[in-house]
Amino acid sequence: MVGTTRRSRLDRVLRAKLDAREAHALRRQLRTFASSVGPRVMLNGRSVIQLCSNDYLGLASHPALIRAMREAAARYGTGAGSARLVGGTTNAHAELETAIAALKHTDAAITLSTGYHVNTGIIPALVGEGDQIFSDALNHASLIDGCRLSRAQVSVYRHTDADHLDKLLSTSPPAHQRLIVTETVFGMDGDLAPLAALVKIARRHDAWLMVDEAHATGVFGPNGGGLTDHLGLSDEIDVQMGTLSKALGALGGFVAGSDALVEHVINVARTFVYTTALPVPIVAAAHAAIDLVMREPERRERLWCHTDFLRDELTNAGFALGTSRSPIIPVIVGQAETAVKLSGELLARGVFVPAIRPPTVPDGTARLRVTPMATHTKEDLRESVDAFITAGRQTGLI
Ligand SMILES: Cc1ncc(COP(=O)(O)O)c(C=O)c1O
Repeated sequence: MVGTTRRSRLDRVLRAKLDAREAHALRRQLRTFASSVGPRVMLNGRSVIQLCSNDYLGLASHPALIRAMREAAARYGTGAGSARLVGGTTNAHAELETAIAALKHTDAAITLSTGYHVNTGIIPALVGEGDQIFSDALNHASLIDGCRLSRAQVSVYRHTDADHLDKLLSTSPPAHQRLIVTETVFGMDGDLAPLAALVKIARRHDAWLMVDEAHATGVFGPNGGGLTDHLGLSDEIDVQMGTLSKALGALGGFVAGSDALVEHVINVARTFVYTTALPVPIVAAAHAAIDLVMREPERRERLWCHTDFLRDELTNAGFALGTSRSPIIPVIVGQAETAVKLSGELLARGVFVPAIRPPTVPDGTARLRVTPMATHTKEDLRESVDAFITAGRQTGLI
């Protein structure tokens, strides 16, 4: 009885918070697919085009990954059983990490359970009290949380503004250690960090540079190694992180860099030390994905071709797409209510793209984050553009 009363008081408080979210069109809800997470998905009993996945290359349902997973499960079982430093490291983990280092052109790499674990673990492993972090204003929540957990002082520079970063570094009091942190491809805007300028600034101010390649891995670069690979800057960057969960179609995160960096992470990063290792079937799937990404650039080329088509068509239709230079195409609508309405109109026409609202993006910049997959057909995209035009008119956006 006491338990029920306490719970109902908690429920009342939480219900009021949820109602407030609802009133501002900020309530989030789960959508449940009854299918694989491909270019078309089964949602509420019908097949709709999915235009919001980070599975950019469509590898999450590729036969080679599924086979690798099945074989690994038969040989190694499902769970890893313990943390990496206890009994959770297999030859499959070591081989994947060698493959990641080759993909990223670094001496070494190490995997963690998710990209979120990487960012929240690596930053505090590198800097702490008395140190200083310089962080792009639109960095991902996991980077922001990593900065907070580190207890270093954080200076936020204007989004992709290398001059502002330079000024902040020039005028800030000397810190024991300085770390610049940025995404290379920004997850919600699809624009790019000015990487070559950041490398120069880091050198000039004797700061370390950490880049988040979550949305660049598999998508940019001659071998899919990311924007660092595309620009030939791998040697110039101290810490590269990425995920196995987006274009690589699996799950997990990684850090790539020098042998010393990787050994430091293994010894110090709490999100590496104090959690169970990635299961081998996941490791095997990620390894198969890297092989495909490096061997078969045609999947990447198809993704870019789809990206150009969608961007041109939506721009010509009159949508505001920001300054994206990647397969992440933000259709920026402003108010959360409008984004929810546009998303609903699209779904009614067979296209699934959920609304992205604050605090994921700044106030007044609610959007639909459109991402093609290499496995979409041209007909899927044509149908999506037609739906966008009708839904955009219906909502008064175009
Ligand atoms: C820029 C960025 N960094 C890190 C992450 C975290 O990666 P993961 O989904 O593997 O935890 C994400 C994705 O959610 C992301 O968009």
